[in-house]
Amino acid sequence: MIHLRKVLIIADPGVDDAFAIMYALLHPEIEVVGIVAEYGNVSQEIALRNTAYLLQLAGRTNIPIIKGADKPLTGTDPEFFFDIHGTHGLGEIIPPVQTPAHDPFHKVYELIHTYGRDLNIINLSRFTSLALTFIQAESNIHKTGNVYVMGGAFFVPGNRTPVAEANVYGDPQAAKIVAAHGKNITFVPLNISNRAVIPLDTIKKVAIENDTPFSKIISPIMDYYSTQYESIIPGIDGAPLHDVTLFSYLMNPEYYKVVERQVKVNTTGPSKGLTLADFRPAPEYIEDYPMHSIIIDFDKEAFTQDFVKIMTNR
Ligand code: BDR
Ligand code: CA
Repeated sequence: MIHLRKVLIIADPGVDDAFAIMYALLHPEIEVVGIVAEYGNVSQEIALRNTAYLLQLAGRTNIPIIKGADKPLTGTDPEFFFDIHGTHGLGEIIPPVQTPAHDPFHKVYELIHTYGRDLNIINLSRFTSLALTFIQAESNIHKTGNVYVMGGAFFVPGNRTPVAEANVYGDPQAAKIVAAHGKNITFVPLNISNRAVIPLDTIKKVAIENDTPFSKIISPIMDYYSTQYESIIPGIDGAPLHDVTLFSYLMNPEYYKVVERQVKVNTTGPSKGLTLADFRPAPEYIEDYPMHSIIIDFDKEAFTQDFVKIMTNR
């Protein structure tokens, strides 16, 4: 019997989030029990509609859509990235859906209560909604399974500032709460996600040899996203599918190299959003501060092959 991995996704779709959600919905060994739509690449309202669109295409409207945060913990206005992800976050596609019926954030606590240690939380967005689960005692977040977060850049350049990755930079206070109070957190940083670039020829093949419910959107959303990336990184053949790497790791940990370290987050000044870990051979540890897993390397070829297999439903 197949052991299904239960996942609760927090996302801001966004093209790479959309690919991650499609991968999760197509994977025969993943059961998506809910999707929290949070601000980030796009507004929370647009994230709700894009999530509903993907679930509608997949015929999986039974999966609860949950209203996530619409701004950082500080209450400052969020910054959106329509230039990279498109006017509606899905390239040039404007999903033909209204704002869907959705659950309030409290549903997250119910899911944690229902599934306990069997639940994996996959955070593909800013850290705001996730941090709320650490702040609210009733969330019982420590009774859940593992938490995976796309975020951070450990001694490699950032993508939002020279030192900061976008999910951490978008709400560094929230990221700091997660790093300082989380247990069982796995950080999936730019160190690997920037290299999760599937060549455009391969994506074309995935789109052509595709009889999944997503076949019609794969090319248009990737074409837009990769064209935007080409203007930031001339010569790149494709664009980083940051958020897909979390699911790929969850299902294929053998392709990934993980180290255990404490993670610090800077919240102010020019290094706002910087993530820091001590990688010296004899690291100094802070007392009463949690250890986390950080993924620092992966087998890109194996990642690509697995992506093609799942996305073409082979
Ligand atoms: C992360 O930021 C978002 O723009 C992407 O969807 C990804 O989650 C990459 O830094
Ligand atoms: Ca994202």
